[in-house]
Amino acid sequence: MSRPTAYFAGTGMGVPARVMTNHDFAAIGIDTSHEWIVERTGIVERHIAGDGETTCSMAADASRSAMARAGVTANDLDIIVLATATPDRLLPATAVDLQATLGATQAAAFDLSAACSGWLYGLTVAEGMIAAGSAETALVVGAEKMSAIVNWKDRNTCVLFGDGAGATVLKRSTGSRGILSSFMRSDGSLADLLYRPHGGASVPMTEAILAEGSHLVKMAGREVFKAAVRSMAEAADRALAGARMTGQDIDLMIPHQANVRIIESTAKHAGIPMDKVFVNVDRYGNTSSASIPIAVDEAMQAGRIQDGSTVLFVAFGAGFTSASMVVRF
Ligand code: ACO
Repeated sequence: MSRPTAYFAGTGMGVPARVMTNHDFAAIGIDTSHEWIVERTGIVERHIAGDGETTCSMAADASRSAMARAGVTANDLDIIVLATATPDRLLPATAVDLQATLGATQAAAFDLSAACSGWLYGLTVAEGMIAAGSAETALVVGAEKMSAIVNWKDRNTCVLFGDGAGATVLKRSTGSRGILSSFMRSDGSLADLLYRPHGGASVPMTEAILAEGSHLVKMAGREVFKAAVRSMAEAADRALAGARMTGQDIDLMIPHQANVRIIESTAKHAGIPMDKVFVNVDRYGNTSSASIPIAVDEAMQAGRIQDGSTVLFVAFGAGFTSASMVVRF
């Protein structure tokens, strides 16, 4: 195994203060129950953005915390990659709003669209730029305001998602710690399993689209579930093989937090016991690209990741995208 090129210098998270529990859906007329949601998904509550809270503001909270822990200032940032499926505006990229908010005047900033796998895609792109010599220090953020794009009348989807952001400062590695392997895959033939049918450039927004809600998230849940189980297993295998490791070498697995049953199935496949798996889907729901970086930050603060820990990340998302990574901290 060659020496890693980039390592995690600091992590941070930012979530809205407002919490919505499973019991709160009754008040907005959704025919569901706490028991149904917990049994099918493991979700108990999620954070929902309040007035004035945006993808950029949550990303900025997470970024400031990650930068402080990494000991870097805004001027040190060469690139900012913001993975998001919920940009604040369609033009320009939310990453440039984040850049302006942070005052990172020396950075190139761009959004990356790979749904829930986006933060891992972003890390892989940033690592490549560091390896190529075009960056020393990168800020990679996953930030989502899913509450702005879910259909609050559709019980199949609105109970699943939450808002939040997680950020990581990636720096050129000089030692043995850092990214040991990574894997990315997409399967566009499955794009219509989870998508926003209208309101983009091919079928621009009309009053009819707005009225029927076809600009909002639509999902074939059972099919997504099957594809997720399959692609998470493959992604875990590929990152482990790339690092010449097995599940037994992993101190902690941090999977995308969509559904506890998908997490359990991935852990079983990889031969990793659940006491070595980080789960916080109960408290945040599915925050898409923010889910793994929020979990990483919580795991760091809780002492579940320490110097020398070997951690496996695995994600899947709309696209269909999947990605994985083995990191030595
Ligand atoms: N409350 C109560 N009942 C509900 C709800 C709800 N919130 N939602 C659906 N139901 C009903 C359905 O209408 C259906 O009723 P019917 O049999 O009378 O038609 C019944 O529950 C069963 O529905 P299923 O879809 O078969 O339920 P399933 O066991 O598959 O669970 C779930 C649904 C939780 C959505 C599951 O399929 C799943 O987790 N899929 C993956 C979703 C996912 O991970 N999405 C994100 C992926 S990518 C990304 O992160 C962006």
